[in-house]
Amino acid sequence: MVLIERSNQINFTLNEIPEMNFFKNILMVSPENFEIQYAINPFMKDSAGNLKKIDKKKAKSQWGNLLQTFTDLNLSVTKFEPEEKLPDIVFCANQFFPIPNEISINKENFLEGKMFAEERKAEVALLKKKFENLGYNFGQLSQRVTKFEGTGDGIWHPGKKLLWGGIGARTDMMAWQEISEKYDIDVIALNLKHKTFYHLDTCLCILNQTTCLWNPDAFDKNGQELIRKIFDLPIEADKNEAESIMACNAFCPDGKNVIIQQGCLKTKSKLEQVSFNVIEVDTSEFIKAGGSVFCLKLFF
Ligand code: ARG
Repeated sequence: MVLIERSNQINFTLNEIPEMNFFKNILMVSPENFEIQYAINPFMKDSAGNLKKIDKKKAKSQWGNLLQTFTDLNLSVTKFEPEEKLPDIVFCANQFFPIPNEISINKENFLEGKMFAEERKAEVALLKKKFENLGYNFGQLSQRVTKFEGTGDGIWHPGKKLLWGGIGARTDMMAWQEISEKYDIDVIALNLKHKTFYHLDTCLCILNQTTCLWNPDAFDKNGQELIRKIFDLPIEADKNEAESIMACNAFCPDGKNVIIQQGCLKTKSKLEQVSFNVIEVDTSEFIKAGGSVFCLKLFF
């Protein structure tokens, strides 16, 4: 199977892609040490160029509400408590990439990520140890891949043997090339061009097999064409909401309920018009660090 970079390479319909079980488990990493100590994306500094300040109490309560929202939707949530002071480890969408059992080769449940920022590299080993204690196995990509930020850039098409891979500041094209060869799957590669939309999960949220929420401005022409070709209903998020409060960093675990940052009113109404149940949560403290609903969890 191949890395697909242009829409004229799509010679299949979604119906022809084999089904695959979808995930039910959520990992969250407790926000005890969440802080802004460095800036590795455009959200982390204010307009004067200073690091933004986190209200720790507020962050803790927002995180707790998000966990409760996942639990209310009958998702099984595992919680890790990091003992080291790694201020971004709470964004646990980024350190690993889940491999469904159906395609796993050596019983690996995850591929290890390769964090782009020096400051985040230690997160991988720490969380890996905790997963290994629970019996999970890991695989690795080769040395040729230098950056690979897990589900920040890799999004499984729900219930299908098909993967969407973002290429840009945080993940190399080579990661998707290797994954497509190793697991014999099609990977649709999307180049990310816009500084604010530095992970695929900041500009594309797959809601169900035929619908996505997205921000076209974050993609080049090829990427836009690919998304329009596969999804019957690509819903454009409100531009301002996508940029300032991360409207596309939403999460739809079941094809019906969309958990999204509070205040994405225009985006919310578009989703409701096509019958999604929109659940607003406040993740404002985490948005200061460049992450919202989607990246505060790992879905596996
Ligand atoms: N401060 C973190 C970083 O820049 C935020 C990560 C947010 N994760 C995401 N998947 N968008 O790495």
